[in-house]
Amino acid sequence: MYNIAIISGDGIGKEVMDACEYLLDKLDLELSFKYGEAGFDCFNKNGTTLPEETIKIAKNSDATLFGASTSTPGQPSPIINLRKELNVYANIRPIKSYKGANSLRDDIDFVIVRENTEGLYSQIEYGDENKMIAERIITHKTSERISKAAFNICKKRGQNKVTCVHKSNVLKKTDGVFKESFYKVAKEYPQITAEDFYVDAMSMYLITQPQNFEVIVASNLFGDILSDQSAGLVGGLGLAPSGNIGDSNGLFEPVHGSAPDIAGKNIANPCSMILTASMMLDYLGEWEVSNNINKAVEKVISDGKIKTPDFGGDASTMELTKAIVKELI
Ligand code: NAI
Ligand code: MG
Repeated sequence: MYNIAIISGDGIGKEVMDACEYLLDKLDLELSFKYGEAGFDCFNKNGTTLPEETIKIAKNSDATLFGASTSTPGQPSPIINLRKELNVYANIRPIKSYKGANSLRDDIDFVIVRENTEGLYSQIEYGDENKMIAERIITHKTSERISKAAFNICKKRGQNKVTCVHKSNVLKKTDGVFKESFYKVAKEYPQITAEDFYVDAMSMYLITQPQNFEVIVASNLFGDILSDQSAGLVGGLGLAPSGNIGDSNGLFEPVHGSAPDIAGKNIANPCSMILTASMMLDYLGEWEVSNNINKAVEKVISDGKIKTPDFGGDASTMELTKAIVKELI
């Protein structure tokens, strides 16, 4: 029996989570769900985007599934704070081309490992009417920890190269530490090639030679931007799952946000959320079920008969979900 915390959020977060729960219910697994609130709707109701009760539910679960939440003016981001509360420091974002999806090439298969707890997402900003300052904290300890996670993921995936992304030519002190920590850790993995690029050049290489990357490690903001760009390489945010992993907790969420432009229409692509649940099951040790879900998604996408509008079709969120479930059982 696994205790799963479910935090749907708002916008399409709710729609893709409903679809995901529908699929999870059909699996031959004992899952017990506990529900927590977060996000914009939650703020309007409770005066906070992330209630203590939600943090408690997530902390007491075996793993947490998060949908998406709309940003609330003047309020902290619930997902950034939840990542920090759970100390899930590595945000793992696999990017893979699927046959049938609108990918730039058919041989893209890399993973972005984004540092989750510091960098420019400290949410510490201050100043006066003349000047505003945002703190960008980079420590040796955290940079080494995220580099270690990246090399271990590289080993687990049977790949051979880790690429560190930074901007140490300008951010000499902070990104100097990030880069230096990366090469220090790289020495412990002599069988894996270590390389680094500045983030601006990297943005170009991701378009011109995405097939050459295997594992990419980046600080918080750069990792966030590069993961949406990378999702664009393989057909968009409809096929971009992610997992936030720490030493004792896992928080799983699609890369996308609450997509207000399509919310309420039941046309959001549920595949990111479903692949996210698959990452969670892999984390819980249910490798076979996880693998079967990935294969079912791959089959339905490559068949191309049932597609949501982001992939050029007219299927609804639930129609696509049911097609995936049909492949599973
Ligand atoms: P977004 O990721 O919500 O949407 C970007 C574009 O991708 C939109 O055109 C949207 O329709 C499309 N899209 C996203 N997910 C899709 C899916 N599953 N199926 C089909 N199309 C999909 O980013 P945006 O528009 O910049 O932000 C909207 C809100 O979400 C903002 O309030 C933002 O702060 C919040 N946000 C929340 C995140 C989270 O909760 N983890 C992450 C990113 C943004
Ligand atoms: Mg993002």
